[in-house]
Amino acid sequence: MELIGAGRASRVFALDADRVLRRSGFDTEGEARLMRLLRREGFPAPEVFDARGGDLVMERLHGPTLAAEMLAGRVAPAETADVLLGLHERLHRIDAPPWLPSASRGVDLTGDGPARVLHLDLHPENVILTEAGPHLVDWANAAAGAPAFDLAVSWVILVGVDLAAYGLPAERIESLRTGTLPRLREAATEAALAEAIRYRRADPNIDESEIDRALNELA
Ligand SMILES: Nc1ncnc2c1ncn2[C@@H]1O[C@H](COP(=O)(O)OP(=O)(O)O)[C@@H](O)[C@H]1O
Ligand SMILES: [Mg+2]
Repeated sequence: MELIGAGRASRVFALDADRVLRRSGFDTEGEARLMRLLRREGFPAPEVFDARGGDLVMERLHGPTLAAEMLAGRVAPAETADVLLGLHERLHRIDAPPWLPSASRGVDLTGDGPARVLHLDLHPENVILTEAGPHLVDWANAAAGAPAFDLAVSWVILVGVDLAAYGLPAERIESLRTGTLPRLREAATEAALAEAIRYRRADPNIDESEIDRALNELA
């Protein structure tokens, strides 16, 4: 099988031109159930064909990730922010189904308003730019709760990326940061940002330097 993608938690193999297998070490049935609901609501998530244990067979999306395009300079920083905020905005219109958990890693996600679907890992590696527009993958962390928390988690993830490790020149790093981070931060709330740091810190795979960068930025 041809490996076409990998993240911290799974590997994605092409099965044919239209389908991929995502293999991970955790159960994917809840994730598949949510993805099916999102499709019915018209949200751009891949179509699910089968989910058994850690194996999820889904629609193969064709196109680069937003991360690749952003790092290559083919998508401008402001446009990166537009895509991320646009996906948040569309997702958060969807009422959370009663079976979606509203607490995760010991953090209560409920807020004042109605519980909405939250992705909780909405960053450029999980966005695939297809001919039919941006699509969002990797629903393993999704939960029910307040939209501001989802935006805050995206901010913590992005602020935590060590862009210098990608070999980008300092002025590109500065324009990426100033073009994307403030927009996400403004869309969240200060309380949600503090909670999002707690939530990310509770991730067993987290790199502490990500948290340090977020804390420095908030200080
Ligand atoms: N349906 C898909 N079609 C094409 N590529 C995909 C698809 N789902 C995931 N990928 C690719 O595989 C990578 C890893 O998948 P992802 O679900 O994000 O796993 P992880 O939890 O390990 O981050 C993604 O960043 C993306 O590049
Ligand atoms: Mg991912």
